[in-house]
Amino acid sequence: MLKGKHIILGVTGGIAAYKSATLVRLLVKAGAEVQVVMTPSAKQFVAPLTFSTLSGKPVISEFFTANTGQWNSHVDLGLWADAIIIAPATASTIGKMANGVADNMLVTTYLSAKAPVFIAPAMDLDMMAHPSTTRNLELLKSYGNHIIEPASGELASHLIGKGRMEEPENIVRVLSDFFVPKDLEGKKVMITAGPTYEKIDPVRFIGNYSTGKMGYALAEEAARRGASVTIVSGPVAVKPQSSDIRIVSVQSAREMLDAAQKEFVDSDIAIMCAAVADYAPDHYADKKIKREKDEIPVIKLVKNPDIAATLGKEKNPHQYLVGFALETDSEQSNARHKLHSKNLDMIVLNSLRDSGAGFGTDTNKVTIFTNDGSSESFDLKSKDRVAADIFDTIIKSQK
Ligand code: C5P
Repeated sequence: MLKGKHIILGVTGGIAAYKSATLVRLLVKAGAEVQVVMTPSAKQFVAPLTFSTLSGKPVISEFFTANTGQWNSHVDLGLWADAIIIAPATASTIGKMANGVADNMLVTTYLSAKAPVFIAPAMDLDMMAHPSTTRNLELLKSYGNHIIEPASGELASHLIGKGRMEEPENIVRVLSDFFVPKDLEGKKVMITAGPTYEKIDPVRFIGNYSTGKMGYALAEEAARRGASVTIVSGPVAVKPQSSDIRIVSVQSAREMLDAAQKEFVDSDIAIMCAAVADYAPDHYADKKIKREKDEIPVIKLVKNPDIAATLGKEKNPHQYLVGFALETDSEQSNARHKLHSKNLDMIVLNSLRDSGAGFGTDTNKVTIFTNDGSSESFDLKSKDRVAADIFDTIIKSQK
């Protein structure tokens, strides 16, 4: 998303300025052109040479280049930018930006620019908590600027509290998410994810190896594209990065069905990514089943409801229902059969015969079948990229 984007990175005089060197590296690696603008005091923390070397562009700090007298136009610079990030942003620069105190190149450029502005504050906890900082940040928000909230942790003063500049990786993520086209704005997306646990007794269950990674990657992608997202999630260790994603936690297939039916009513797109246990014990022993000497317990199983097929029956014409098929053989015909028998609009096939596909991996290799009879096979990719392919295909097939 950042390929070819013009980014101004404003560095101000805080100890976290050393992290901005990593930020430049990550932005350049993502394909962005980075122009670093430093405040005079920032240069006491990190030498401009570090930033000019990493960005491949001379750092701008003054209104004039001293030895040539060349005028650094803050207006041209502001217009060049697709985005401005101020990281670290000190209390002083935040105050100047909020109140229009244009006494250095960075604040002047900020005031001239039309591009979106991201501010990553970094300061001591008491400065961060001061009503003046709070008010200035509120003012900046009211101008439409984006505040990348500082994290809590140990600060340069060795005090522990809120004020640590957000990590460069997360700043890059916020920025690249911003540039994702918001083609799911106004849509509600519901995703089932993870395994289900079917209780045998208080300490045992029937489950499977699903980690929820694919479902959670789909949820992140939908949120990036502007959808309102709910995951009906079985027990998993993964957590969503986006705080906008709603999680409804369930354990069993029955609970997953109830929650999915409720969420489906006002959903525009539903993706059935959960690895639902096909069977559950017909009886729950409320005390731990003891190991008897000679007797081997027999657990009778009953069939679980098919959540995808149930929603397929309840589906309205405007709703788009997607299933997954994890197969080991006769992949294509099994996937096409499930597409029709469950009344889905699309099915995503992954085969356990492909290495890098299936449970627990960070990658997947899929073929997507749509109900107009077409199909498309994709290369092995990260689950994030697979999620993007799935939503691209959903949007294309809805047109
Ligand atoms: O029939 P099979 O389990 O292979 O179908 C896989 C698809 O159906 C997946 O989308 C899965 O989430 C969904 N499914 C379901 N409820 C079940 C079994 C599967 O929603 N009980």
